[in-house]
Formats: sequence, C-alpha cells, structure tokens
Amino acid sequence: PRLAVIVVAAGSGTRLRGGAPKAFVGLGTRSILHRCLLGVFAGPLAQVVVVVPEGYEGDALTDARDAAGPAADLLTVVTGGATRQQSVSAGVAALWADVAVVLVHDAARALTPPAVFERVAAAVDAGAAAVIPTLPVVDTIKRVDADGRVVGGVDRSELAAAQTPQGFRRAVLEEALSGAETDHTDDAAAVAAAGHAVVTVAGDEASFKITTAPDLERARSMMQGAPA
Ligand code: CTP
Ligand code: MG
Repeated sequence: PRLAVIVVAAGSGTRLRGGAPKAFVGLGTRSILHRCLLGVFAGPLAQVVVVVPEGYEGDALTDARDAAGPAADLLTVVTGGATRQQSVSAGVAALWADVAVVLVHDAARALTPPAVFERVAAAVDAGAAAVIPTLPVVDTIKRVDADGRVVGGVDRSELAAAQTPQGFRRAVLEEALSGAETDHTDDAAAVAAAGHAVVTVAGDEASFKITTAPDLERARSMMQGAPA
C-alpha cells in the first residue's frame, strides 16, 4: 500500500525559545526540519507532507527539497493550525488519493533512525490499524495531587513512553480526527478514543523530542562526527 509521512513542524517552540519556530532552529549545518527530513527520506515512503507555520512555507520548501534530493517530487508543504491535532488534520487533507497508510511524525524528533519508520510501517502493513513506537519507562513514577503531595505509586511495568512516527491505516486516522471531540496530544489518543486498538513496536532513544535548550544541545552533540 502507498505510504505517506506527515511531518508536523508548525509549532512555535515556546519551551525551546530558539529565536524561530522550533523546526527552523539550527541543527548541524541546517535546521531541525532539514535533519528530520534526511531521516524521513531514508525510510519507506511515497509522499511526504510537511506542515509548517504560516509564513514559513517557502523556507520549508527550500529545506525539504534539499533533504529530498531526487525525491523532491514526493513533497507537499502545507500550513498548519493552532494545535498539533489541527496541524495533523491539515496534513491529512493534503494526502494524495492513492495513499493507504499514513505515518505522522514530529519534526522535533529530528534524529529518529530510519529503522523506526520501517518498523512502524511494517506493523501497519501486517494488519494493525494503529501503531506507535514506545520505550519502557525507567523512572519510578508517582501520582501527585495539586498540592504536590504523593497520593500513590504507579506500576512502571504498565507504562510506556510514546514516540513518533505513529502509523495508521488512512481511513482510521481520517475518521478519528474528523470525529475528535477533544484536542489530543498525539494521534494514537484520537484513534484510541474512536475505539481502535493501538499496538506498539520498539522505539529508539535517538527519537527523543527536542523540547528544551538542553535537548537541542543533546541533539547537537549526538551529531558530532555524523554527516549534517
Ligand atoms: N506542532 C504542530 N502544530 C502545532 C503545534 C505543534 O505542527 N500547532 C508540532 C511541532 O512543530 C512539533 C510537534 O508538533 O514538531 C510536537 O510539538 P511540541 O514539541 O510541543 O512543539 P512546539 O509546540 O513547537 O513546542 P512548545 O510546545 O514548546 O511551544
Ligand atoms: Mg507544543
């Protein structure tokens, strides 16, 4: 089935405070978005939809064409919305007619290895409606009330940290987003709320989300010696 990757890059990056929308902050010799798309174009795909803040469409196209190389024909750039979910919906609206499987990826997870895209896509191809990459939770987790008092523990073995790319059969994602009554922070939550089972595959430490300045430093140090 034809595969599309939607890269959501329309956030403002308020926690990073990098002087530009997060995806356009420098990483290596180019931007977070450019580095992310190098990984995307190394994985399986038929269409790549990049969702960016209003006014950044031209900058995005420059970075994306450069990352795509000979695959530039696969690119679509669209304007995002006020929330991540609205940005994903804008990306879904731009999918080509023959796309049957959709991977939704955070531009901020710029160092995600291509193997993760392959694992997620393979699980959807094998029949899953919805697939997310996860990592085990290593910290001991507490339930805390509004006053900061510990009110209980949480069994860590029941928990997993969700990453992206998250993969879906196209119809499942479209239906979940169009019927969503709340604003979900990831797409699997919208799909689960619509009643679909979500399965997991192994995530990767390198898929961490660049959220704060120390995260950006971590990404920069991981790229030392690696091609930009
Ligand atoms: N995103 C988006 N559209 C939005 C909000 C977020 O496309 N309206 C994207 C971001 O660009 C990012 C991903 O969703 O790639 C995860 O969001 P997050 O890490 O929260 O990024 P920002 O919202 O940009 O950062 P912050 O919350 O610190 O402002
Ligand atoms: Mg955000």
